[in-house]
Amino acid sequence: MKTLTITRPDDWHVHVRTGAILKTVLPHTAKQFARAIIMPNLKPPVTTVDQALLYRDEILEAVPTGLDFTPLMTLYLTAATTEAEIKKAAKSEHIHAFKLYPAGATTHSDSGVADIKAAYPLFAAMEKHQIPLLIHGEVTDEQCDIFDRERVFIDRYLVDIAKSFPALRVVLEHVTTSEAVQFVKDASSYVAATITPQHLLYNRNALFGGGIRPHYYCLPVLKREQHRLALVKAATSGNPKFFLGTDSAPHTTSMKESSCGCAGCFSAPIALELYAEAFESVNALNKLEGFASFHGADFYRLPRNSGTITLKKISWDVPSSYGDNGASITPIKANEVVSWQIQ
Ligand code: NCD
Ligand code: ZN
Repeated sequence: MKTLTITRPDDWHVHVRTGAILKTVLPHTAKQFARAIIMPNLKPPVTTVDQALLYRDEILEAVPTGLDFTPLMTLYLTAATTEAEIKKAAKSEHIHAFKLYPAGATTHSDSGVADIKAAYPLFAAMEKHQIPLLIHGEVTDEQCDIFDRERVFIDRYLVDIAKSFPALRVVLEHVTTSEAVQFVKDASSYVAATITPQHLLYNRNALFGGGIRPHYYCLPVLKREQHRLALVKAATSGNPKFFLGTDSAPHTTSMKESSCGCAGCFSAPIALELYAEAFESVNALNKLEGFASFHGADFYRLPRNSGTITLKKISWDVPSSYGDNGASITPIKANEVVSWQIQ
């Protein structure tokens, strides 16, 4: 039987929520990954070090006994963030980044930054205190076609941010386009990107296969096939600027299957399996370990993990949902076959 053993991986972008959903989803991430960058877009958002430390405690309580999992906390950047908080965050061993959501770009982003230029003094403080800035890179004006929002964000904002703050570590989160890949490749070693499993495996046809498919809807939205191919090429290239970030973003099934369904794909239970499928599709399984286990740690200046995880080539059916009636969550690929399994 075909098996693949790699150093324990990390997830550099995940939403684990709070309360009942946290308890349902966190064990899946903790089983697959040694560490994860925890996104701060709760309601209300996690904007201070003290709030992040409380949230961290709640996450640690949800880790099943016997699993060794470290949440890497982030703070939600707002117009009210102070340099003092940035300094405090940079000093904390538990806080690893700030997340910039353009106001209105995605789920729970209404407290985000409306005027990006006005946040430049905060970027300068992050550069000075050496804490990374994670960016949801989409413009929010409704005139802009939804499939163009990432590309336009790069041209309108990101090029200048990278130029103005050359020593600021920036992660362009969940890249979805060939233009984003090109921007990251051309930028300095201070600029990197995460890539999700859904953007490696699916193009925008998946949203409309035989009818509307809400569980494949996330932001940035799936793009054309040419973009998917560019992402697969980047992820499997061995370039250390590209690393694993699932953007697993659980919403209850009823919030997804609605007249106005929430954005976000729940991939945590099968995340590594999905990446293995994507890498195998281009005969690049030998590049999975760098992407999943080394590049992100190196960028965040954290030690690489010890220990290993083994995947076996076994087909199994993805459950139709996880959790109980109170918080039933439909995963991506529900009721379909996935061809790898974690031992
Ligand atoms: C994320 C969420 O639900 O929190 N949704 C998504 O579609 N990716 C927010 C985000 O990362 O954009
Ligand atoms: Zn996200």
